Amino acid sequence: MDELSQQDVIITAALPYAYDDLHLGHVASTHLPPDILYRYLKLKGRRVIQVCASDDFGTPILIAAEKQGKDPAEYVARWNARFREDLEKLGIVYDLFDRTSSPENVQMVQRFFTKLDENGYIFVSEVDQFYCEFDRKYLPDRYVKGKCPYCGAEEQYSDVCENCGRTLQPGQILAPHCSICGRPPVLRKSAHYFFKLSAFAKKLEDWLVGTPGLQGDVKNYVLNWIKDGLQDWDITRDIPWGVPIPLEDAQGKVLYGWFDNHLCYITTALKAAGKSGEEGRRYWNGAKLYHFIGKDIVYHHYLFLPSMRMGEGEYKLPDYIPTRGHLLLLGKKVSRSKRWMITVREFVEHFPPDYLRFYLTRITPLSQADSNFDLKEFADKINNELVASVGNFVYRALSFVQTKHGGVVPEPGTPGAADEAVLAELRSAVKDTGELVEQGHYDRALRRVLDFSAACNQYFQKKAPWENNDDEPTAVFYSCNLVAGLATLLAPFLPHSSQKIWDQLSFGRKLEDFGWDSAGGLRVEAGRKISEPKPVFRKVEEADLGKVRVLLG
Ligand code: MF3
Ligand code: ZN
Repeated sequence: MDELSQQDVIITAALPYAYDDLHLGHVASTHLPPDILYRYLKLKGRRVIQVCASDDFGTPILIAAEKQGKDPAEYVARWNARFREDLEKLGIVYDLFDRTSSPENVQMVQRFFTKLDENGYIFVSEVDQFYCEFDRKYLPDRYVKGKCPYCGAEEQYSDVCENCGRTLQPGQILAPHCSICGRPPVLRKSAHYFFKLSAFAKKLEDWLVGTPGLQGDVKNYVLNWIKDGLQDWDITRDIPWGVPIPLEDAQGKVLYGWFDNHLCYITTALKAAGKSGEEGRRYWNGAKLYHFIGKDIVYHHYLFLPSMRMGEGEYKLPDYIPTRGHLLLLGKKVSRSKRWMITVREFVEHFPPDYLRFYLTRITPLSQADSNFDLKEFADKINNELVASVGNFVYRALSFVQTKHGGVVPEPGTPGAADEAVLAELRSAVKDTGELVEQGHYDRALRRVLDFSAACNQYFQKKAPWENNDDEPTAVFYSCNLVAGLATLLAPFLPHSSQKIWDQLSFGRKLEDFGWDSAGGLRVEAGRKISEPKPVFRKVEEADLGKVRVLLG
């Protein structure tokens, strides 16, 4: 064990906005990868916590709540509960799934603001804001729609054009209208607080260059943004839903959602660990920190987040920000407005959660490259890899115990070359898979487990126990142990199926109690009575795929 193995690990997943269901894209880039790491580290006996929260504040959420005539706090609480249910169905269980609007987070955020202000990183400036005289409201961001001045696209939000991707300053959008009443707004001056992002250019550059755990492909373009010059950042919103700015003359103003949301990583981790104050800081600063994200929020995580922590000065910066690309759906970009998406809820109505975990892990690399969810490929991977390789070996091996040995694991003879070789293959699979997981390559790690599964099938085929040779008990004994090894190797990826396999071996102890490192040994002893084997996976049929096509209209 290296000395670092005593170190705490804190894993966070990007916080979903509390205004729409989780879809497969969220799972692929943001929730599933950390869960694999988390489960693996637990099997390695590491002290690790995994946290997430609903991202509750901000204009999009307030607008959504207003549209339904709901109080925003009540509105976000419903989403929070729904997220937990959905994630739990996938076997993604956080030590704490909290909310950015928790009192602890509000306190943390205000403390950060105050410290940043004391340290000279906050300044005030008058800015033009859209204001609706009819609704008597300032109209930030999505409260105003109009025509993009760059590409001419209609019905774009005033802060960003979804058609050409450019960000817009207040006042830039053409033919603006209030998204509540449709009337044209006026421009009014409002005092806004700014965070001096520009002051951190050099420090950010040093941090990016000096942090080996950050992905090279992401680093390069973030360094280019810095070179192009960083804009100071307007962190005020004139809306009633957010963390109040803790200053006398800021009455009625709140902080921008991207100021408060990532601080919830810290708040939630400390809350989950039951630590606060100085003890909380020591815990955070002594831990290895992973923030898992999708590539659309790189700017926020590689610039805002680190500079705010540097400016505040008390909480360590991340060691890793694993950043993954988008998940395309049948080759097309997911779109909420066009409802070109499959929600987690919909998916698990038709398929076991592990099928989703399996397929998404197989196709999602540690890079910003997009992956594509394809129905035919999904069926092929499940049928050819999970059913025909893993499921086949497990079922064949255990059926032998049942039919030939009355359900009792037989006493092996002296192992021969093939038995030694397959055991060595198990040991190297355990080692390689672990290393790949530690490097963040979950796709390759799972691929490695599948190679091992293929080796198990070959072993079984070669030993041909159905020929009733003298060697038959040895082959069955070893095969039972290979099955146990497979169960552990699959556990971080496919927790439900791995548990089912484990249960068929009737161990008196839990898979977790054995841990990862013992998976390369002979853990199933002769004389053990095992349960009646049942196939763990079933094929995906054309009719099942049809149900998903219906979902997409
Ligand atoms: N809610 C944001 C999004 O979906 C992600 C917030 S992650 C955090 O894009 F860092 F800000 F917390
Ligand atoms: Zn209006």
